[in-house]
Amino acid sequence: MKLTIVGGGSTYTPEIVDGLVRLRDVLDVGELALHDVAPDRLDALAAMSRRMLRAGGHPAEVTTSTDLAAAADGAGIVLVQLRVGGQQARLSDETIPLRCDCLGQETTGAGGLAKALRTVPVMLDVVEAVRKANPDAWIIDFTNPVGIVTRALLQAGHDRVAGLCSAAAVFQRHFARILDVDPARVALDHVGLNHLTWERRVWLDGEDVLPRLLAEHADRVAPATGLPAELVRRLGTVPSYYLHYYYAHDEVVARQQEHGVRAQEVMAIEAELLRQYADDTVAAKPELLTRRGGAHYSDAALDLMISLLSGDGRPHVLNVRNGSTLPFLPADAVVEVPASVTADAVAPLPVDPVEPLIAGLIAHVTAYENLALEAAVHGGRDRVFKALLAHPLIGQYAVADELTDLLLAANRDHLPWL
Ligand code: G6P
Repeated sequence: MKLTIVGGGSTYTPEIVDGLVRLRDVLDVGELALHDVAPDRLDALAAMSRRMLRAGGHPAEVTTSTDLAAAADGAGIVLVQLRVGGQQARLSDETIPLRCDCLGQETTGAGGLAKALRTVPVMLDVVEAVRKANPDAWIIDFTNPVGIVTRALLQAGHDRVAGLCSAAAVFQRHFARILDVDPARVALDHVGLNHLTWERRVWLDGEDVLPRLLAEHADRVAPATGLPAELVRRLGTVPSYYLHYYYAHDEVVARQQEHGVRAQEVMAIEAELLRQYADDTVAAKPELLTRRGGAHYSDAALDLMISLLSGDGRPHVLNVRNGSTLPFLPADAVVEVPASVTADAVAPLPVDPVEPLIAGLIAHVTAYENLALEAAVHGGRDRVFKALLAHPLIGQYAVADELTDLLLAANRDHLPWL
C-alpha cells in the first residue's frame, strides 16, 4: 500500500515512521510518500525517514513531492498533519487573544478560529486532490482543529474520512498506568467534540473502575486534566486537558500573560528536533519528540490504519459525523466518540444520554464550530465576527470586534478571500 503524509515535512513524521517500523509485520506499506510545500523540510524528513526505515529493516520506499496530485496518486491512505503558516502563525494565534484577556491556545477559542480560517481552504484542496486521484482512499486527519477540519472534509463530499486525536489514547495509557495494567485492557466512555471531551466511565475488563479511581487516586488522575483533584472528584467524570481552558479560563490567561504560551516552547523543541534530523547518524525517533503533545500519536494512527485495511471491526475513538448519536446536535456535526471501523466505513457507536452539565457546552461549541466553518469556507469579516461572538470563551461584541480585526490583520497572507 502507498501511504501518503500531507505535511510530511512536519517534525512529527518520525513518530509515524517509528510506528511503521514497529508494526511492519501487520501493516504492509510499500511506499511512504511525503508531501510538503517546504522543499527543505521535505528533504530533511525524507532522509531521516529513510534512515529510520533502513535501521528498522523496513522495505518501504520513501518518495517526496511538493505536488498534491502526484502525492495522492495511488495512495490507499492519506494522513494529513499540516500546519498552515508554521509555528510562527501559531505564535500569533496564541498571543493575540491575550491582548484582549482571552485564552491564547492553538485550537480553543480565538486562536482555534484563526487556525481554522487558514487551514480549511488548504484541506479542501487536499480532499479535491485525493478524490481525483482515488475516491476510495481513506483520509485520516490529524490536522487541527480536527473537529472543524473533519467536518469540512465530509462536507466536501468525501465519506472516507476519520478525524484523529491522541487525547483518548493518552487517557487510556494514563489510567492503565495508575491501575498498573496493560492499556489494551482499558476502554473508555469518551464523549464530546474534539478537544472538548469527558471520560464518563473507565472499563477495566468490562468493569467500570472510574468511581474507584476517583475515590482512591484522584490526585494521580487530576494532573492530566489541569484541574484540581477535588474538582475532578466532584464532577465524577474526567474532563480532557482542554476543559481546564473553560473551567479555569481567567486563571490560565493570567498565567499565560505572565509566563508566555506553548508556541514558544514548541518552537524551541522543533528547532532542536530539526537539528537532530539533519544529523545523518541519527536513525531513531529522538527522545525529545515525547515532549510534544502528539507524542505516541502513531499508536492511534497506525492502529486505525490496521483496522481500515483489515476491516477487523475493532472500535476506535474518532471524530465522525454525528448522525443521531448526540440527539441534541445537528446530524452533520462532527463528534468525538468511540466508533466502529470497517474497511468501508467509520460510524459512531451508540452513546448513553449526555448529562446537562456536559451537553450545554457541547451544544454551544458545536454552534461555534458551525459558524467557524462557514467563515473559513466563505470568508467575510462578518462571518468571522459571528463565530467569535458565538464562542463561549469570547461572547462579548466589543471583544469579538477587536479580535476580528487583529486576527484578520495577522492572517492576511493566509486567507484567500482577503
Ligand atoms: C495533542 C493533541 C493535538 C495537539 C497537541 C499539542 O496531541 O491531540 O491536537 O495539537 O496535543 O501538542 P503541542 O506539542 O503542539 O503543544
